[in-house]
Amino acid sequence: MITINENYLKLQASYLFSDIAKRVAAFQQNNPGRDIIKLGIGDVTRPLPPACVEALHAATDEMANEATFRGYGPEQGYAFLREAIAENDFRSRGADIAADEIFVSDGAKCDTGNIQEIFATEVKIAIPDPVYPVYLDTNVMAGRTGAFADGRYQGICYLDSVKGNNFVPDLPTQPVDLIYLCFPNNPTGSTITKEQLKTWVDYARSNKALILFDAAYEAFIRDESLPRSIYEVEGAREVAIEFRSFSKTAGFTGTRCAYTVVPKECAAFDSAGNKQLLHPLWNRRHCTKFNGVSYPIQKAAAAVYSDAGKRQVRELTDYYLRNAVLIKKEMTALGFVSVGGDNSPYIWIDGQGRDSWEFFDMLLNKAGVVCTPGAGFGKCGQGYIRLSAFNSHENVIKAMERISQALQ
Ligand code: MLT
Repeated sequence: MITINENYLKLQASYLFSDIAKRVAAFQQNNPGRDIIKLGIGDVTRPLPPACVEALHAATDEMANEATFRGYGPEQGYAFLREAIAENDFRSRGADIAADEIFVSDGAKCDTGNIQEIFATEVKIAIPDPVYPVYLDTNVMAGRTGAFADGRYQGICYLDSVKGNNFVPDLPTQPVDLIYLCFPNNPTGSTITKEQLKTWVDYARSNKALILFDAAYEAFIRDESLPRSIYEVEGAREVAIEFRSFSKTAGFTGTRCAYTVVPKECAAFDSAGNKQLLHPLWNRRHCTKFNGVSYPIQKAAAAVYSDAGKRQVRELTDYYLRNAVLIKKEMTALGFVSVGGDNSPYIWIDGQGRDSWEFFDMLLNKAGVVCTPGAGFGKCGQGYIRLSAFNSHENVIKAMERISQALQ
């Protein structure tokens, strides 16, 4: 008899953003012709930077020519992209990362979801609350949790990110092995200082733990004192894996390109307590289950690091940050307290006692604006909503006018 992985039965009915998409589709069906503005899922709306488009076209032409055609590429990514990443995203900022420590992939969602495969089922996981649901759900699927009760999975060490700690979780008070951190944070938009990040690196070093650091939103940092990479913190190479993405940086949500950094010294332990390096393990997993990102897409990603690409990416992220500033300003004028929106495309808004999903429904019904209910990111998200800055400036202005009217 074929049996299922029963861990899947512990999961909540559907993935947060699929759930929201279904509700929005139902609303549209019942209200045909109603104009909806989406400030929910963090999906970019601006076209790819011209430097990337040019590189994509040129690479596609190479694929059309017998002399320059390419079949399978290296699973870990082409050297031209890995070199450009190591130099521009790390070494130029004083973080010592080599090209062969970069694993190019088709998304940080997949990487943050897949990485847990290389760790034992028994490891104790520390996960922020609220959190990007992928970290949690993939550990549920892998059997690292008990049942879901009172809004939380048993067996997880939740790291509350709340007003009281400025949405930067405190160190765990119980021993943990695998720690998920994301800064600038999704969903709260909060940021972490180098000193705060160092306390986590120090914790991991003294407790034989490992940090999974999601830096998918680092391109939105404007405060130069904030770390863009965990490897800017001394000692992180041994205890941290970092995830990056071209999705929000350069508009690649539909094009797909990201990468994971696994430094050569980064290690975990086998059941006998012997140190085991993670680079060969992740390399083994990557080569077995992934055949590389397509050549034209990697060429487009590499163009992000050209002079023109750097300028265009800056313009792109500035564009969305301008939306974020406007959202924050308008919500503040309406009397709402929020975090994020300055070094992040997300604004995390305290609903002043409103239930997250009720606030979501109210904004959808009365303003035709889609947000993300904070409760969908965890128990500590209850009472909050997240607004995303990923839309056109005109739509954001319109959305803010409609929200203002709906609330009056
Ligand atoms: C979000 O809205 O949280 C993100 O778009 C999700 C993602 O990047 O997968």
